[in-house]
Amino acid sequence: MKTWPTPSLFSVSENVARMQSSSTLAAMQAAEALRAAGADVVDFGAGEPDFDTPENIKRAAAEAMRLGKTKYTSTGGTRQFQQAIIDFYQREFGATYEPNEVMGTSGGKQGIFNAVVTLINPGDEVLLPKPYWVTFPEIVVFAGGKPVFIETEQTGFLLTAEQVEQAITPRTRLLIINSPSNPSGRVLPPAEFQRIMEVATERDIYVVSDECYLRFVYSPGQVFTAASLPTELRQRLCIAGSFSKTYAMTGWRMGYALGPVEWIKAMLKVQGHSTSNPNSIAQWAAVEAFNGPQDSVAIMLAEYTARRSWLLSALRDIPGIQCGEPEGAFYAFPNVRGCLRGGLKSSGEFVQRLLEEEQTVVTNGAAFGAEGYIRLSYATSMAQIKEGVKRIRRFAERQF
Ligand SMILES: Cc1ncc(COP(=O)(O)O)c(C=O)c1O
Repeated sequence: MKTWPTPSLFSVSENVARMQSSSTLAAMQAAEALRAAGADVVDFGAGEPDFDTPENIKRAAAEAMRLGKTKYTSTGGTRQFQQAIIDFYQREFGATYEPNEVMGTSGGKQGIFNAVVTLINPGDEVLLPKPYWVTFPEIVVFAGGKPVFIETEQTGFLLTAEQVEQAITPRTRLLIINSPSNPSGRVLPPAEFQRIMEVATERDIYVVSDECYLRFVYSPGQVFTAASLPTELRQRLCIAGSFSKTYAMTGWRMGYALGPVEWIKAMLKVQGHSTSNPNSIAQWAAVEAFNGPQDSVAIMLAEYTARRSWLLSALRDIPGIQCGEPEGAFYAFPNVRGCLRGGLKSSGEFVQRLLEEEQTVVTNGAAFGAEGYIRLSYATSMAQIKEGVKRIRRFAERQF
């Protein structure tokens, strides 16, 4: 029998070598491993709704399969899918987009990826306000760009036009905004968003607005999309949207992008040679999500509202923990520096010891560029939230 030589050590490309694995996915895996070992884990790590996909959306997918809508589609999605996106933005926000300014993507993440890699040349600077979603710097690094972080702790994690202005250099090409924010839950006031777009337009830089949590804004806040900004401020703006959170469809991998014709054209080129098109069956599900009844979104939002209010007051009552108000998404982002005494030196150690001593999973804020903070997802049941908070309190009290 032929014997094969031992393969040489696999070495990845330089672009990939510079990237880091997702720490939020790592937290999920850590919880999974503990659970498999029989531990009673409370998991605040999840970045996805604990609700099932609404029945009308599932039925639309089943019907699409029955009708044989199981083939390749155009790269940016079927005409019906693109029209559903256009109609949704017109109906909900009075924002007008043409079909060549819209494309479907495999999740919001692919929209962001396409938007960054079509724009960035090696050495270009990309502005990322802290705390940032973990994937942003990695995509920038993959594209050969240089992430330039903007500190926003002094403005309560709300980016301002002045901060953007100060961070711009001759190499700046792009700014990525995520509102409502993962992890902070903060929502950029529309007037500030407009000022930021004015700065971007004046200074000739582009903006990606990740609006993946668009619809999850808590009263009295109001849903705002950059799509509703004046058209002259949309010339350098690409919006990445997602069905994942709003319609509890994380596994379906459906998203979309809205942007100027030339940018979308370039993004279609990348997508055409990578994923070809978003899943055809899931496109029909997404059409139903946008065109069908929206009551499931209201039900989820009402549940998140109740959990959020309980969680916030319970966290604020724990010694050493300070928690600002998340106006959107489904995360609390408390400052735990008051607990960093004695044996605990960093939020990373807080997270690790909480896992070991109380089998409770939270995400280290340092992963999002905010050492001293932790992220708790309240996309989990009220019973789990109550049990988890009891454990965090017990853990925090031991530090005093
Ligand atoms: C801020 C943010 N943007 C984008 C995404 C990507 O969502 P998807 O690719 O599932 O649409 C996520 C998912 O966790 C997120 O938190």
